Amino acid sequence: MAKGIDVGTMNIISGRQEGDETVFVQQRNSFVEIEHSDMAEQMLSRSDVLHIRKDDAVYVVGDDALNFANIFKQETRRPMQRGILSNDEKSAIPMMKLIIEQVAGEPSHHQERIHYSVPADPIDSNLSVLYHQKTLESFLQDAGYDPEPINEGMAVIYSELAENNFTGLGVSFGAGMTNVCLAYYAVPVMTFSIARGGDWIDEQAAQATGKPIDKVTSIKEDDFELDFRTDVGGVEGALAIYYENLLDYVVENIAREVDEEDIEEGLDVPVVVTGGTSSPRGFEALFADHLKDANIPFSISDVHSVDDPLYSVARGALVAARSEEGEDQGRPNRSEPVESSVSDEDDAEAEEAEASAEN
Ligand SMILES: Nc1ncnc2c1ncn2[C@@H]1O[C@H](COP(=O)(O)OP(=O)(O)OP(=O)(O)O)[C@@H](O)[C@H]1O
Ligand SMILES: [Mg+2]
Repeated sequence: MAKGIDVGTMNIISGRQEGDETVFVQQRNSFVEIEHSDMAEQMLSRSDVLHIRKDDAVYVVGDDALNFANIFKQETRRPMQRGILSNDEKSAIPMMKLIIEQVAGEPSHHQERIHYSVPADPIDSNLSVLYHQKTLESFLQDAGYDPEPINEGMAVIYSELAENNFTGLGVSFGAGMTNVCLAYYAVPVMTFSIARGGDWIDEQAAQATGKPIDKVTSIKEDDFELDFRTDVGGVEGALAIYYENLLDYVVENIAREVDEEDIEEGLDVPVVVTGGTSSPRGFEALFADHLKDANIPFSISDVHSVDDPLYSVARGALVAARSEEGEDQGRPNRSEPVESSVSDEDDAEAEEAEASAEN
């Protein structure tokens, strides 16, 4: 068995295969600190709410943080910011450890393989993902797993572009970041991230309209559509403006980064957009429109979104982990001795593809 886990700024989601079905476990990557009281103790002990008690404080972690924040009139806090561990949240490490342990669950056997998503280094900030990556690795090792990082954009290619021989452009529009990967037969040709995503849209729209960020987020997640018939001056109007601005910024950066690569002439690839921020109706068409106008040195056969954009990365990480364990057909099975020289070569190729996928 093997697992995949998507460690995101807003959602932490694991995936595992049970028969024909992929089973996902999900928690919100947030927590709330409440003062310890008898009432809190009672509420918590009667439920299976994820929490930690530390001195005079109780931390409620994950999905329940939002409910407790409302009841106790507190703000939720986030262990990650802009795609990686937050450096100004001192409780980030124990909270993330708890959520990851709960979402990953117990390994089904000692040293079960787990692929965990890691963003590419952002091109628009000097943040490095190395510390974040190594911290996640140690959480998963402590939980009894054999962890392996997978680039978030590459995970999108694994999950959404199998039918196209793992060739195409995958873009994951998350909360803290946007991750981009261009892959050619499962080999990443270009991976990068941009330190902007749904959180940035919310912050900008909140600032423009004077509304609290949480309010803006819930309007956006409720039934917001990118149809541009929305009211000028309202929250939806502001959301539409910043959505379009984010897309412009992403497309501009794709054009610039691709330009620096040695792209094969006549390349014609599909583009897949996913991640929570790609959810609103109209997103795919708007992105396709902006791409058409950009100066990109390859042609795009089509742009499509996915049905369940929150799960793409977890699913892709699972595909990578399983194929490495040889559970998938068509890839060499490492748990069995390699007998012919042909399989040997296949194995080396697969290893090479995987090694570059992780960089
Ligand atoms: N229905 C929806 N409409 C609009 N936005 C949504 C919707 N559902 C979720 N989002 C937004 O999607 C983002 C979360 O997406 P996702 O879970 O893909 O991000 P993440 O993986 O946690 O973050 P990252 O990859 O940036 O670290 C948030 O900004 C959230 O507000
Ligand atoms: Mg993500």
